[in-house]
Amino acid sequence: PAPGWAIDADVVVVGSGVAGLTAALRCAAAGLDTVVVTKARLDDGSTRWAQGGIAAALGEGDTPEQHLDDTLVAGAGLCDEEAVRTLVTEGPDAVRRLITTGAHFDTTDSGDIALTREGGHHRRRIAHAGGDATGAEISRALVEAVREATLHTIENALVLDLLTDAEGRTAGVSLHVMGEGQHDGVGAVRAPSVVLATGGMGQVFSATTNPSVSTGDGVALALRAGAEVSDLEFVQFHPTVLFLGADSEGQQPLVSEAVRGEGAHLVDADGVRFMLGQHELAELAPRDIVAKGITRRMHEKGAEHMYLDARHFGAAMWEQRFPTILAACRSHGIDPVTEPIPVAPAAHYASGGVRTDLRGRTTVPGLYACGEVACTGVHGANRLASNSLLEGLVFAERIAADIAEVRPPRTEPAESSRAVGDLVPLLAPEARTAIQRTMTRGAGVLRSADSLAAAVEELETLHREAAAEADGAKAVVPGVDAWEATNLLLVSRVLVAAAREREETRGCHWREDRPDRDDAHGRRHLVVRIAPDRT
Ligand code: SIN
Repeated sequence: PAPGWAIDADVVVVGSGVAGLTAALRCAAAGLDTVVVTKARLDDGSTRWAQGGIAAALGEGDTPEQHLDDTLVAGAGLCDEEAVRTLVTEGPDAVRRLITTGAHFDTTDSGDIALTREGGHHRRRIAHAGGDATGAEISRALVEAVREATLHTIENALVLDLLTDAEGRTAGVSLHVMGEGQHDGVGAVRAPSVVLATGGMGQVFSATTNPSVSTGDGVALALRAGAEVSDLEFVQFHPTVLFLGADSEGQQPLVSEAVRGEGAHLVDADGVRFMLGQHELAELAPRDIVAKGITRRMHEKGAEHMYLDARHFGAAMWEQRFPTILAACRSHGIDPVTEPIPVAPAAHYASGGVRTDLRGRTTVPGLYACGEVACTGVHGANRLASNSLLEGLVFAERIAADIAEVRPPRTEPAESSRAVGDLVPLLAPEARTAIQRTMTRGAGVLRSADSLAAAVEELETLHREAAAEADGAKAVVPGVDAWEATNLLLVSRVLVAAAREREETRGCHWREDRPDRDDAHGRRHLVVRIAPDRT
C-alpha cells in the first residue's frame, strides 16, 4: 500500500527499548529532529522484562579486560574482538550516563552499586535495580526522559519497509499506525537516517521469554531492503524459564540467572545437582552449557523439566532480592520459599541480526541497527548474560554520535520505494502458530539435519500457499497481525537455512548429528543478503 500521510525528520528511530530510546535521546540532544516509532506503547518491548541486570566492569578489582575474556569464551570463537573491546571499555561510562539520565540501581550499604553474578562471569559484575526488575527501571527512566525531551513519538506503529532514494540511500520508513489520530493508517516518516532498534524474534518459537511484539520485524525489513544479516542460527535458549506445562505457548516467565548467581542449585526430581562436574562453574557455566545440561538430563530422565532449588534463600531474601520472580512463581501456584521451581529452557535471545560495523552502520547507506536486532559482533555464537542491555546502550550512543557527525541531507523517497504488501505475499495471521510449532520442533534447543529439513519443507509450504493465494479471492487483508506473521516466516526461513548450513555444534547452536565444534570449517559467519525481488 502507498503511504497516505508523511512527516519529515532527520532521524527516525524504530523501537523503544534501551537501544532505541538511548539513540533517540542522544540524537535529540545533538539537535537532530528525531522521531521514535514503536509497535505498541513506549515501554512494551523486551527491555522492561529484563531481570538480572546490566554487565559492566564497575566493581573493585574488575577490569574491562576480564569482562572481555568472559565475553569471548561465551562467544565460542565467533566474537569480533574489536567490537567486544568497544563494549567492555565504553560500558562502565555508558552505565554511569544511564544513571545520570535517571535510572536508579540497587546499592550496597556503603552506597556503591550492588553487583551480582550470572552464568559465564568470573566476577560479580551485574548491576541490578529493584532486585530483579532492572529492565523495568531502565525503561521507566528512559521513557520519562523521552517524554521530557524535544522528540516526536508515534506509538502503535508497525514499521513496514525501508524507503530509499534514487541512489539507494535510506530515505525513511513506511508504517502502519493504528489509533494515533492524524497519523492513522499506512504512512511514512521520511528521514535520511533510520535506526533499527526493534528488538528480537523470540516469537518465532512456541515458548519464549520475549513479549508478543518480538516478531523479527527489523531483521525482516533489513532483509527486504537488501541489508546483510548474520549469525541467525545462534538463538539463545535461556536455561531457567518457569515451566508451565509442555503445551504452554507464548511469553513464559523468566527465572533470572541471578538466582543461580546468588546460590540456587539446579537439581533433578531426585534432588541431584547434575551440573556439578560438567563445567568448572557448575550452575554458573555459560548459558548454552547450562541449557544443554538441563536438556540432556531431561532426556535421560524422560522428564519435561528440571528444578531450581533456592529454598535456602529464605522468605526475606526472596522478597527483597527477587520480588518479581517470587510474585510470578506464586501467581502460578509455586512457592520458591518452600519448594523447588520447575524450570526448562525456552527461546530467549537472538545473538545474530542485522550486520553492523562499530558505528552501528548496516550495509545499506543511512540504515543503522542496535540492540537485539543488530549483529555488532559482540555476542559471537552465544551472548554472555547481561551483555545485551549494555550493547544496546553503548552502540546506540555510537550511532547517535555518527549521525550527529555526518548529518546527511534530507532526500526524497524514490517512486519505486514500496511497502511490504507489494514485496512479499502476506500471510494470514493464523499462520503464526504453525510457524512457531514448526520452528520449535525443527530448530529448537536440539537440532539435526532431519529436523531442519522437515522445518524447511513446512515453511516453504506456507510460503508457497501464501504466494498462490496472494492475488486470488483468499488474498489476506493487510494488518499488523498479517505483517507480523509474514515477518516471522521470512526470518524463520533464513534462520533455518543458516542452521542447516552450520554443520557443527557451537555456542547456542546445537546439532545432535554434529555434536562437536568444527574449528576447521565453523569459524566463520553465515552472512545472508537477499535481493529484494527474492524474498
Ligand atoms: C536473566 O536475568 O537471567 C537474563 C539476563 C540476560 O538475558 O542477559
